[in-house]
Amino acid sequence: MEPDTREANPGGPAGVVYTRDELARRVEELGREISAFYRRKLGDESVVVLGVLKGSFVFLADLVRALDLRVQIEFIVASSYGDSTVTSGVVELLYEPAASLEGRHVLLVEDIVDTGTTLERLHVLLAESGARSVEVCALLLKEVEAFEEEARREGSEATDGPLRRPRWVGFDAPDEFLVGYGLDYSENFRHLPYIATLKEPVSPDVRAPGSEQAPPEGQ
Ligand code: IMP
Ligand code: MG
Repeated sequence: MEPDTREANPGGPAGVVYTRDELARRVEELGREISAFYRRKLGDESVVVLGVLKGSFVFLADLVRALDLRVQIEFIVASSYGDSTVTSGVVELLYEPAASLEGRHVLLVEDIVDTGTTLERLHVLLAESGARSVEVCALLLKEVEAFEEEARREGSEATDGPLRRPRWVGFDAPDEFLVGYGLDYSENFRHLPYIATLKEPVSPDVRAPGSEQAPPEGQ
């Protein structure tokens, strides 16, 4: 059962933002849209579905089963957050895909795009990979306004700028810290079948956003 009030499950995930059913329905829709898009392009080739670990693993597993295409699945690891809920601005790529992307159609699958730093870094990497095309599907997009502002400045929805909105977005997400369905807080809660905000305090070692206060001066 999913908690449906902020009082549920004290100390853990709080309000449910996207239920299991809502996620499943949206993933089916994305699968249909992505399949239609690539069917014309691919001929008898496959698309390389490139998941960004760890956060995308649940979404990717559901998404690929909603695709009516030939797919090859690869992963890369990108980490920008460490244990904090605020982006560090530094994206570490821990390994690159084993398969060559040269000449391939690549669909990058992200759990959540917040500031766009990770995506920007990945775009640079993929531009150098010789991929024939690179599209992005993100389950969640947080800084919606920043992306829209960038698109307005560039005069088009699909700019090549660093804040290019992914071609497919599951949901325009609220600007809150979200967990579940692959998303973690300090490696916790990835396994939840729904997406929720965090309720604080969680526990001494797994604290919610905003609870990491600096000690009073002089201590
Ligand atoms: P960006 O580089 O600021 O766009 O951050 C993207 C990455 O930060 C995502 O791939 C996630 O790993 C992480 N992230 C951003 N927002 C959240 C959140 O609300 N919950 C969990 N992880 C998040
Ligand atoms: Mg993360």
